[in-house]
Amino acid sequence: MVSATDIPFSVVGRDIVLMDDVLYTGRTIRAALDALFDQGRPAKVRLLVLIDRGHRELPVEAQFVGRMVQTTANEIIEVKFQEIDSMEKVLLVERIAEQGAGIRSPFGRNAMPRGLLGIENLAREEVQAILDRARDFQPTAGHSFRKFDLLRGRMVVNLFFEASTRTRTSFEIAAKRLGADAVSITAQASSVSKGESLVDTLNTLAAMRPDAIIMRHAASGAPHFLQRHLEIPIINAGDGTHEHPTQALLDARTILDRGVALEGLKVAIIGDIAHSRVARSNVYLLSKFGARIVLCGPASLLPRSSTQIAPGVTLTTDMSEAIRDADVIMMLRVQLERQNEAPFPAGEYFRFYGLRLEQLKLARPEVIVMHPGPINRGREISSEVADSQRSVILNQVENGIAVRMAVLEKVLNAGMVMQTLVIKNGRVMDPASGHDAVADVWIEDGVIRSVGADIATR
Ligand code: CP
Repeated sequence: MVSATDIPFSVVGRDIVLMDDVLYTGRTIRAALDALFDQGRPAKVRLLVLIDRGHRELPVEAQFVGRMVQTTANEIIEVKFQEIDSMEKVLLVERIAEQGAGIRSPFGRNAMPRGLLGIENLAREEVQAILDRARDFQPTAGHSFRKFDLLRGRMVVNLFFEASTRTRTSFEIAAKRLGADAVSITAQASSVSKGESLVDTLNTLAAMRPDAIIMRHAASGAPHFLQRHLEIPIINAGDGTHEHPTQALLDARTILDRGVALEGLKVAIIGDIAHSRVARSNVYLLSKFGARIVLCGPASLLPRSSTQIAPGVTLTTDMSEAIRDADVIMMLRVQLERQNEAPFPAGEYFRFYGLRLEQLKLARPEVIVMHPGPINRGREISSEVADSQRSVILNQVENGIAVRMAVLEKVLNAGMVMQTLVIKNGRVMDPASGHDAVADVWIEDGVIRSVGADIATR
């Protein structure tokens, strides 16, 4: 229905921000601009959209974009709002070209702290560096995780607005194994339950000067929104149906531990694709390394747009087709908490999309079965498979600590200026070369740059 809008003031010379939920062809905005200019000539007109889905027919560009969502032309985008900050105002933040790039925040600072909001915007080399570093933190067989001093004196806050067993605990253990202090807060225990806005809660925590905030929230984009207001790096521990970056990292570490490269692997991700942040982060990561990803599930939980998340993705509703010749089978839980529709009866779901032992014969002989947990035995996976030799579910949990240690080290040390250190007249011994003499040693960025007599300090 189209109806007239009265603007109760003169637009002449004003700075006008037009807001639309979804920017598509650009025709709606064109019509709004025509109507606006009928009223007079503003000094400036800018466009704010929640979703930019591409497919423009007119030269229209938004200055403020909530999220770019690549769609096919015949898809329908529905935008559902969820109040997360209780603020009766809109903060305009200029477009962020890339995660980590400088932004103009409403508080006037020009640098975004280097947290970890998702896999999507990480370079392959950054992912590889985290996976490589995680190996250094893996325990040797029969031993516990080693304790390091790398983050001594630092503090992280775990802020979880959704239930978690694995992620919260492993972040806490990871921080402590690195020598940092860790504090955990749940939604029920925070003042959000008394009506405090999310931004106020985060600002309150930030005033206590933690070095990072690890955050899980039911709203997609919540950590991204908050990162725009905070100097402290935020690590995304799962945001709605969007991303769960450390899960994808620990999954990749677990696959690599089998001694295989990710390139060319067939990875079948089976279950509730529509609501899965684990699937999305895994698709981003695996695709960066050239894996072949097959997403499988009932049609109602398998959006056709999923192929456009990243290259190398195909879809099927046929579980046998997904499993055939798979190197990795990743099972997902049906996320009942994120569905408005009536859930499938457990037995019926298991009949079509539950993983049973006999189905593994279709896959490669060395196939591994993964699940991010929590698992629902008899719904998406049988006990025989979950407890079988092919299951690496507990390896994933173990790797969660090693990977989160690597992430915490990276995030908390990012931007830290390593000092140049010159040790004068030290006794320098190198057993490999037999060198044993008094010399100066120049160390920069943690690396020995030079050893010799009389090194001048710059
Ligand atoms: N995989 C995962 O995120 O588990 P939790 O919900 O227990 O943290």
